[in-house]
Amino acid sequence: MQLHREFADVQVQIDQTRLEQILVNLIGNALDAMQAQPLPQLWLEGEPHDGKYRLRVRDNGHGIDAEARKHLFEPFFTTKPGEQGLGLGLTLSASLAAATGGHLGVEHPASGGTTFVLSLPLVSPTPAEPI
Ligand SMILES: Nc1ncnc2c1ncn2[C@@H]1O[C@H](COP(=O)(O)OP(=O)(O)OP(=O)(O)O)[C@@H](O)[C@H]1O
Ligand SMILES: [Mg+2]
Repeated sequence: MQLHREFADVQVQIDQTRLEQILVNLIGNALDAMQAQPLPQLWLEGEPHDGKYRLRVRDNGHGIDAEARKHLFEPFFTTKPGEQGLGLGLTLSASLAAATGGHLGVEHPASGGTTFVLSLPLVSPTPAEPI
């Protein structure tokens, strides 16, 4: 697999456990979607945007069809067979993002694959105390 990474160095308002749960699910989903892809590629890109930190997790997997797009964030929606998916990952990830003042969205690039976009509040530098 080819991994593309590009991050701006900033501080975001989310605790490590929550961020980890979100990323484990988004990256896990991306890897699942690329299983049949002969040249799998994953892009992890983070940059400040509109006063938030915008982290994009993009894959060149099989993408998401029109019907599934409507249900992605619903609890227990899964297209994975048997025990492989509970359909809770995106529901949980979206609520963890919202709980910290952020947002989880999705884009469907015309070139194929899927991009999840996680927006998190930036930690604004504390102004110095006046003496
Ligand atoms: N990157 C992706 N590419 C293609 N389809 C995706 C991607 N991410 C999610 N999906 C689709 O959305 C569905 C729901 O994802 P979600 O993470 O909520 O559940 P899951 O991965 O099926 O199960 P769980 O995360 O609970 O183990 C997946 O079953 C899959 O159909
Ligand atoms: Mg999942």
